[in-house]
Amino acid sequence: MSSTKKIVIVGATSAIAEHCARLWVQREAAEMVLVGRDAARLASVSADLKVRSPQSSFRFLCTDFLDSTAIQATVDAVGAAGAPDIVLIAHGALPDQGECQESLAACRDALMLNGVSPALFAEAFAEAMHKVGRGTIVLIGSVAGDRGRKSNYVYGSAKGMVSRYAQGLQHRFAGSSVKVVLLKPGPTDTPMTAHLKTQGAKLASVESVAAQIVAAIERGRPVAYVPGKWRLIMQIIRHLPAFVFNKLNI
Ligand SMILES: NC(=O)c1ccc[n+]([C@@H]2O[C@H](COP(=O)([O-])OP(=O)(O)OC[C@H]3O[C@@H](n4cnc5c(N)ncnc54)[C@H](OP(=O)(O)O)[C@@H]3O)[C@@H](O)[C@H]2O)c1
Repeated sequence: MSSTKKIVIVGATSAIAEHCARLWVQREAAEMVLVGRDAARLASVSADLKVRSPQSSFRFLCTDFLDSTAIQATVDAVGAAGAPDIVLIAHGALPDQGECQESLAACRDALMLNGVSPALFAEAFAEAMHKVGRGTIVLIGSVAGDRGRKSNYVYGSAKGMVSRYAQGLQHRFAGSSVKVVLLKPGPTDTPMTAHLKTQGAKLASVESVAAQIVAAIERGRPVAYVPGKWRLIMQIIRHLPAFVFNKLNI
């Protein structure tokens, strides 16, 4: 049996995921499967990783992230080459809250992409890992999922669903060798937040967030805030009484 780590990244063209992949292959050779929606972008990420780690192997798969049949077929195709050691589920998009309030279609798309789709990928991989009795599933939630706020509650509620889903999966696999890690990044400098950066938002560097994510996965913590300061910040936000919270313009 090969001892090379098998890593699957769903949403592999995400800046956070790509930086995690770089750190993983920098550390040791890996067999990586990159899942995305755009073959050209996946090919470019794959080529870059190959230059960084010629001894690693990379293949990529395109799928429809909103179609449960396509998701199951993708997970089956990945599993045919051996059960993965780590699956990082990283895709997501920050919707315009105002647009979601005006258009149910936009609202549905945001909820599906950020909440339902990651849960479906995780559910399919969980079943595969359950059969072999090992593996680590990593889901990316967000600090935005910790408390609904008027400025982004559609995205926040989808991320809240990811949190609750991960919690249930952790309960299901408690005491087994299947691990589930939930990451909660704070605002991070990636294409997803480019518009916030121009508005002067303070963003963590994607390199430091990826390094903390890789370390958190290695430690196998059930929940990791990245950077860690967000654990305390969100504890305060979560516990603010409604009469105070509702006066905040956040
Ligand atoms: N950046 C932050 O501040 C922040 C904070 C908390 C949580 N997060 C979460 O971290 C994860 C990674 O985000 P990131 O910051 O690295 O963002 P990013 O660089 O913008 O990457 C977003 C990823 O989602 C994919 N995606 C977007 N819409 C899609 C769709 N309709 N169907 C399939 N794939 C789609 C993109 O694919 P394409 O390349 O094909 O567009 C890309 O792989 C996301 O789950 C995000 O919600 C980010």
